[in-house]
Amino acid sequence: MKALVLSGGSGTRLRPFSYSMPKQLIPIANKPVLEHVLENIRDLGVTEVGVIVGGWAAEIAGVIGDGSRLGVRVTYIPQDRPLGLAHCVELARPFLGDEDFVMYLGDNMLPDGVEAIAEEFRTGRPAAQVVVHRVADPRAFGVVELGRDGAVRRLVEKPARPRSDLAMVGVYFFTARIHDAVAAIRPGARGELEITDAIQWLVDQGSAVRASEYRGYWKDTGRAEDVLECNRRLLAELGDRVVLGPGARVVRSVIEGPAIIGANTLIEDCHLGPDVSIGQDCVLRRTRLADSIVLDGATISEVPGLYGSMIGRSAVVMPADREKVQHRLLVGDHTRVELVA
Ligand code: G1P
Repeated sequence: MKALVLSGGSGTRLRPFSYSMPKQLIPIANKPVLEHVLENIRDLGVTEVGVIVGGWAAEIAGVIGDGSRLGVRVTYIPQDRPLGLAHCVELARPFLGDEDFVMYLGDNMLPDGVEAIAEEFRTGRPAAQVVVHRVADPRAFGVVELGRDGAVRRLVEKPARPRSDLAMVGVYFFTARIHDAVAAIRPGARGELEITDAIQWLVDQGSAVRASEYRGYWKDTGRAEDVLECNRRLLAELGDRVVLGPGARVVRSVIEGPAIIGANTLIEDCHLGPDVSIGQDCVLRRTRLADSIVLDGATISEVPGLYGSMIGRSAVVMPADREKVQHRLLVGDHTRVELVA
């Protein structure tokens, strides 16, 4: 079995971060989302991975490289325009050949793993096996309706009135039969070749399409709130431990775990945690910070109460000139700042 990871999306919901980096490289518990994804795929025993990349190809390749560090072999497949998930399958055809494959959206986090579902697919080899998760409001997702026998009857992309609570998470298992489906469908309402339509085509042709429920933690890391929630979930695995990277220094500070501090970061006179992930080469002084992600190279000084924050690479957060009793901001597009009046 091979894997196809889709990392071409632009991440508009993660602005301003996605102006300067691909959303798949946003760190969660100090590791890029895409690395979590590739490790998850490696845990299925799959090592040949095609990664679809768009405008951020160079940045992604710069971090992931040939994948050997993560135990996989990565082949990059460029996509000029985001024409849909099924279009990605079409582009990847030469890489995939006629092999079975798992398709994985590069911004989806399933930390509890999908090994059991992969095993089910390997045994039964239906034309398609989708992974579903019960959610209270599935309107933002592809929604699956099952027949009494548990087979998939209908798939609808982002329905206004969902007929089940089974949302499709961004992981799909396919045999080569999917290529016939992709060739047969036309672009949908949002002008994209929808994988949901391709799978529906298989159902309509009488091919076996199954759905497996993933009961673990799932997050599509589309928005900052999702990234922070996922960060808390991954840090929880540390218990109340504090992990310090090489060369990190903690001076006259209190750190409540769980927390991760990156390499060569300096923490001085701070009270941090719980639930903070701080990147490498950061400097934090006289600051109180909880439930937050600080990216590499950021500086934060004398901020007594920060929570639920994401601070970008090499950003500076510091006190204003006390004489003026005013704020001074150099804030980029789509940035969010909440001030205490
Ligand atoms: C895509 C799929 C959708 C699925 C979702 C999971 O939506 O089209 O069926 O439920 O990923 O994250 P998109 O994120 O492209 O809107």
